[in-house]
Amino acid sequence: MQIGDIQGVELDRLHALSLSVGWPHRAEDWQFLREAGQGFVALDEIGRVLGSAMWFPHGASFATIGMVITSPRLQTLGAAQWLMKRVLDKVSGCDLRLNATRAARRLYLSLDFQPEKTVYQCQGIARVPTTESPAEARGDIRILDASDIPAAIALDAAGFGVRRTALIEKLFAHSIGYGLFDGKKLTAFALCRPFGRGHVVGPVVAQSDADAVAIVRPHVVDHSGSFLRIDTHMDSGEFAAFLAHAGMPIFDTVLTMSLGKRLADFSYGDAARPKTYALASQTLG
Ligand SMILES: CC(C)(COP(=O)(O)OP(=O)(O)OC[C@H]1O[C@@H](n2cnc3c(N)ncnc32)[C@H](O)[C@@H]1OP(=O)(O)O)[C@@H](O)C(=O)NCCC(=O)NCCS
Repeated sequence: MQIGDIQGVELDRLHALSLSVGWPHRAEDWQFLREAGQGFVALDEIGRVLGSAMWFPHGASFATIGMVITSPRLQTLGAAQWLMKRVLDKVSGCDLRLNATRAARRLYLSLDFQPEKTVYQCQGIARVPTTESPAEARGDIRILDASDIPAAIALDAAGFGVRRTALIEKLFAHSIGYGLFDGKKLTAFALCRPFGRGHVVGPVVAQSDADAVAIVRPHVVDHSGSFLRIDTHMDSGEFAAFLAHAGMPIFDTVLTMSLGKRLADFSYGDAARPKTYALASQTLG
């Protein structure tokens, strides 16, 4: 096997790799990720893509890792270890975060990643819940535009723990966003973009379950009757209940893991601080 830069590979070959492990990514989703991050591929002697691993730096000292795949006929032979070691060389000194599938947990544990918390992959055919929201969101909801990007970057950073300027800008270019405003101040937002089998809602950042429900609800209305997905750490409470009522029950789980700073090290103990209610995606965090 040879190692190659993911940027130079035909999109169709990457798409074929993710299809081979049953992942829903479209070629466009790969392209988005290639523009947002960097990565390696494992190639055989005739240039077929047999593996991939990507990283997404945010500033000089933090990165997320994702799209770690080895083709089924190559699995358990050490290819993922081989690719991951090369990625870890590239991001040495960085605090790292990723979302591990069950198949990959042992790989990441062997590389000293620490388990953090479960991510619930919720998806299905969206429907507008008939139940009334028990608590009302505070403020006005409107569609976001480019002038809201700086406020969204700051809110996202408060929830995620790291400023993701370029990524949030890029997500805005591909998404419809709803924001909750207290006067002119953005207090919560939810983006939604085409992904996989339909659309994905994320990131969602809010200060309370009621606010998170209020800004996700318009996306559910927009996509009622079609496939919608959301990846969340929330396992109970009003937000989790809302997702189930909105046609998005839990489909699968993955495990957030970290290397370097733990998730708790990014929180400053402020209960009123905005929380990340939904990930941008499992790959991006
Ligand atoms: C997860 C995945 C990338 C692992 O790739 P791989 O090339 O098989 O992994 P490796 O051969 O390098 O093995 C890595 C570790 O997992 C262990 N492992 C791999 N397959 C295993 C299996 N079927 N049962 C038990 N352990 C296994 C290896 O022994 C090794 O552990 P060690 O470091 O303690 O020796 C691959 O299975 C895959 O692409 N799965 C589908 C996509 C996916 O889930 N990606 C992960 C995204 S987070």
